[in-house]
Amino acid sequence: MKLLGPSVTVALLAYAIYSWGTFIYHNAIVFGFLRTNPLSTHVQQADIVYIPDTVHCEDLHYHGPSKTLFTACEDHPETRFQWFPPLTNFNDSSILKTYHGSLHVIDPETKKSQRLEVENFNGRPFITHGIEVLTDPEQPNTVYIYAVNHLPNPEPVIAIHPPPADVPKARSQIEVFHHVLGTSTARHLRSIWHPLIRTPNDLIATSPTSLYVTNDHFYRDHGTMRFLEDMYANAKWTDVIYLQFALEAPSTPAETDALAGVTAHVALDKFHSANGLGHGRYKDEVAIASAASGVLSIGQLPSGSTSKSNMITVLNRIEFDSTIDNPSYFSDPYAGTADGVDHSGFVVAGLGKAHTLAETSKKPEAKDPVMVWFAKAIKQEDGGVVWEKRLLFEDDGSRIRSASAAVLVAIDPEKEGGQRKAWLFVTGFVSSSVVAVKVDL
Ligand SMILES: *[C@@H]1O[C@H](CO)[C@@H](O)[C@H](O)[C@H]1NC(C)=O
Repeated sequence: MKLLGPSVTVALLAYAIYSWGTFIYHNAIVFGFLRTNPLSTHVQQADIVYIPDTVHCEDLHYHGPSKTLFTACEDHPETRFQWFPPLTNFNDSSILKTYHGSLHVIDPETKKSQRLEVENFNGRPFITHGIEVLTDPEQPNTVYIYAVNHLPNPEPVIAIHPPPADVPKARSQIEVFHHVLGTSTARHLRSIWHPLIRTPNDLIATSPTSLYVTNDHFYRDHGTMRFLEDMYANAKWTDVIYLQFALEAPSTPAETDALAGVTAHVALDKFHSANGLGHGRYKDEVAIASAASGVLSIGQLPSGSTSKSNMITVLNRIEFDSTIDNPSYFSDPYAGTADGVDHSGFVVAGLGKAHTLAETSKKPEAKDPVMVWFAKAIKQEDGGVVWEKRLLFEDDGSRIRSASAAVLVAIDPEKEGGQRKAWLFVTGFVSSSVVAVKVDL
């Protein structure tokens, strides 16, 4: 039986070719299928620094008041390849008994990294990913540090062979630390877990006791569905969760129950590949990266109890030609000086050839090319904004393997003969070190 007339069939086919063609072309660009020869930005030797002891640090934050960088690193070069749930690396969690990640503070002037000793926490597995740093409003010489920790699921999955598919291999949670700026220690305050925290990736704090966190995948293990989830931009299966939790005074003994006093709700759903999360230009602005679509969504956080909705509202989208990861907003401290221009903007780092990641992520010796983008808002006469995008740095994977976060730290124009320059710090989930590169703004 003929269901459709020939002209309807042709029209449908034409539409399918058109829409899928556009979609496939965009994907081919973002995933780097067409980037056969990844390029490397030329940098003078004096303008690139490899920071010692920064192995596999996924996230990076610049804390303006203390002029320091914070990161969480895996430290041991093998761990990620044996156990890292976000890359579906579940081969051998026994490595976690021996090697633990740690928090680091980097001085952007000296380019030296210091590991923090953590009271109440040393000796516990710490499988690092996204972090957040928040100045303690009660004690401005201190900060809260929030960090994702991808622990193995304590439920006895190993006892049943083969393990049932619906028992997740990881049970990731969030750790809360408190740190006195300028010291080499931190204190673990508590762990946070809630059933809505499934595949946490990155987080932002809106107060010491509230966080937004992304779940980066619906499908937790490799296979066709996870592949489809990444490749198909309409697979809007990820979300952002809002968490509120209790915190005792930093001096009291650590809370041992990760569920105690935690409430949560979905703050953004039906989102493709939610990944990095960052603060924006003003207090309630948020930047959410769709990693696999290469799109940075700029949105507004619900404003407390006065707001009718408790959901994030997406207002704007910035599209990039590669996958993207943790966004950061560079607020230019020398805006309007020297060249009279405000060089503030969003910085995002991603992969030049994301389509090879499924293969390279299991290989300690592989390379993952990187692309770091800068997007500045250019005001239009009609009051609107056009995002001017520029590649700040790219590499074929030799100087840095993978990029998941990048931040700009401005250089005083007087030290650069009036030129506007900055140090760009780039890090990756499998980079052997954080690199600092001097760039033009
Ligand atoms: C997986 O883990 C086992 C130890 O349990 C180890 O012998 C093997 O080399 C690991 N495989 C890979 C690909 O790293």
